[in-house]
Amino acid sequence: TTPNLYLYAANNPSEGTIAKRRSGATLISYLSPPLSQAGLYRGLVDLKASLTRYRTLEPGSSEVSDLGQLIQAQAAGLDLSEAEPLWDDHAKRITALQSAILELEYTLIPHGLHIVGQTMDAEERASTLASLKEAGVDAKRLTDAEAMLQDETELSALLRALDGRFIRPVAGGDLVRTPEILPTGRNIHGFDPFRLPSAFALKDGAKQAELLLTTHRASGRALPETIALVLWGTDNLKSEGGPIAQALALMGAEPKWDSYGRLCGASLIPLEKLGRPRIDVMLTLSGIFRDLLPLQTKMLAEAAYLAASADEPVEMNFIRKHALHVMQEQNCTLDTAALRVFSNADGAYGANVNMMIENGRWDDEDELGAVFSARKSFAHGRDGKASSQTAMMQAVLRGVDLAYQNLESVELGVTTIDHYFDSLGGISRAAEKQRGEAIPVYIGDQTRGAGVVRTLSEQVALESRTRLLNPKWYEGMLKHGHEGVRSIESHLTNTMGWSATTGQVQPWVYQKATETFVLDEAMRNRLAALNPKAAVKLANRLLEAQRRDFWNPDAETLAALERASEDLEDRLEGISVEAAA
Ligand code: BEZ
Ligand code: MG
Repeated sequence: TTPNLYLYAANNPSEGTIAKRRSGATLISYLSPPLSQAGLYRGLVDLKASLTRYRTLEPGSSEVSDLGQLIQAQAAGLDLSEAEPLWDDHAKRITALQSAILELEYTLIPHGLHIVGQTMDAEERASTLASLKEAGVDAKRLTDAEAMLQDETELSALLRALDGRFIRPVAGGDLVRTPEILPTGRNIHGFDPFRLPSAFALKDGAKQAELLLTTHRASGRALPETIALVLWGTDNLKSEGGPIAQALALMGAEPKWDSYGRLCGASLIPLEKLGRPRIDVMLTLSGIFRDLLPLQTKMLAEAAYLAASADEPVEMNFIRKHALHVMQEQNCTLDTAALRVFSNADGAYGANVNMMIENGRWDDEDELGAVFSARKSFAHGRDGKASSQTAMMQAVLRGVDLAYQNLESVELGVTTIDHYFDSLGGISRAAEKQRGEAIPVYIGDQTRGAGVVRTLSEQVALESRTRLLNPKWYEGMLKHGHEGVRSIESHLTNTMGWSATTGQVQPWVYQKATETFVLDEAMRNRLAALNPKAAVKLANRLLEAQRRDFWNPDAETLAALERASEDLEDRLEGISVEAAA
């Protein structure tokens, strides 16, 4: 009977829904940070100027080849190209660099943090509204949003709730995709569980599934037989079930609806209509997905079973192919051999890989895969019930050709929170152990336009350049003092989480982070003054990454990093620099 008022991010309907279920919370929504284009800085500005000049030159002139060499050198200095051998196909390289620079300049990033009760300033509002406009929000809404972003509604809602008055409800979501979340200061709710995935999600999910297959094959690989797909609650809630629809599309299945239009199971799309083999999909659900979406969990398990039991040639149905094989190998029933929907034990959440990375107490990467497997080996069957299925999980992992997850929003990149490497990184490492080699890892980004699939390495590079190493991003964070430094450090720790789980982070990320935050004395002093603990942690994380062989700095850089770490530790312990000298 005690009222429970809970300030909650407007873009987090999934965890918000759990807060309501567990403790009857009345949520009072607050806004996510302003959005802004990443923009260019330092060497990227110079490179863009050279690229612009290149376009004005007469093809074949001597200047073209000189400028081509300069561009290669500039790009190499930014780790966007190799320094050698010299390019013999300038024109093609330069076109590719131009699109890389465009992507970096226009990528959307969250800028700073939101402070509850404070509205955006004019500049923040303008850049946020520009992002909404680009996302296709119409003029009337844009005008409404502009007005609403200027009113303080969050603290006033909290005060209203404390007075025992009504807080109006609204569905949670991302500002760019769902401006209806304005005004904030409302009680967010989730979704109608009977109507997920929506017709729109099914259409888009099929497209994104094909895009994943095309991207994978464009690198010269065969059609994958098994894909490990990570499903969260948030990304599905915000996209009306987009990632669930992707899983169905890969398997060649669709939802079944009862006469009231409510979700009641799955059915198979005939092979003639599908036009390609059914791809085997191993699903790992977050604990939140499992809690929020039991109907969809059952539907996915049913889809896998229906495919495994379909009387179809195995070369057109990889689920059946693998299930028949495992039945023989493990002497189990088809029901067991068709289990593809894995999650935690009831009441448990997460893979704990993030905790291992955080405390650094691990010796071998295989330990990370093992902890993932131990946590995530509970399989949901057609009846929706979960059971421990360690052997089945290992059998399915042995066949995994690639791992994939969708970004859930602009606000949360794969290096923003530790849950992405915990789930997607964790399964990649577990699959690598079973297969004996690393597997490709992809990120689906549908936050803009028609969507794009990037390799994990590309995604981490993009986020590093537009966020962690971008003065616009880190200065925006540092305005928030203590919390800003903590956020910079956690981006770096999450990056190391990707190195540890996938080995797919390019070493320059650590080199540039070292130069930007540790070797630059003025910056190091700022970080140490604002948050001495996080500053030490950052330096030590870079050293840890070096010890673990995720990058190999030259002797001078390493020595400087070691000295800086000692200096930061001394300051943390209160030994003054002068006294130590
Ligand atoms: C989810 O919605 O499933 C989720 C949210 C945050 C972290 C991990 C999972
Ligand atoms: Mg949490």
